[in-house]
Amino acid sequence: MKLFADTGNLKEIEPLAAMGILDGVTTNPSLLAKESGDYRQILKQICQTVQGPVSAEVVTTSAADMINEGKSLAKIDDHIVVKVPFTRDGVKACRALSSDGIRVNVTLIFSATQAWLAAKVGASYVSPFVGRLDDIGTTGMNLIREIVDIFDAAEYPTEVLVASVRSPIHIVEAGRMGADVVTCPPAVIEQCFKHPLTDIGLEKFLEDWEKAQATAAR
Ligand code: E4P
Repeated sequence: MKLFADTGNLKEIEPLAAMGILDGVTTNPSLLAKESGDYRQILKQICQTVQGPVSAEVVTTSAADMINEGKSLAKIDDHIVVKVPFTRDGVKACRALSSDGIRVNVTLIFSATQAWLAAKVGASYVSPFVGRLDDIGTTGMNLIREIVDIFDAAEYPTEVLVASVRSPIHIVEAGRMGADVVTCPPAVIEQCFKHPLTDIGLEKFLEDWEKAQATAAR
């Protein structure tokens, strides 16, 4: 399963990329709005840093405008994946952009039938939002199971990109269900590094080693 960072912040992306754990990045208008500077420049820098797929979302709503905006976003860098919302116009734009060889991520997916329709029009990725489904008292991960089953049965090439991730538990479940990608806020990736037994274990290993060195030196 691939790991994407769900952020528009280069400072958060750089250390993850340097560690070699990052396969791509997803942004959205809310995330990019938090950053200062020219958004196209920011997206370019993110692409250069991660050297993998970087989702950049359109902010227009008609199919014609989304197609134009998508084409313009795709010119920023070869790594750009154009993100369109799941609306009738978004579906139409996805078909047009995909036919033009531009990779599309259909976002704001909240049902399996939405994901299926996006796959039918050539989406490279669908982004089901699991955390936002949990927020309204449903089990978001059930949607991932449904989409993975449908895509596997029909052998759709569209990748299931688990979005709106809130904790490492979502990551584990996504992996077990056969999702292709999980996109995580850097804070959730940070949580994956934490385990008290790792800290205690390392402290003991180093302590024992130091003791042995001190004894040998006597
Ligand atoms: C997906 O690409 C979105 O950027 C994101 O995962 C939304 O997550 P949120 O529900 O935490 O805003």
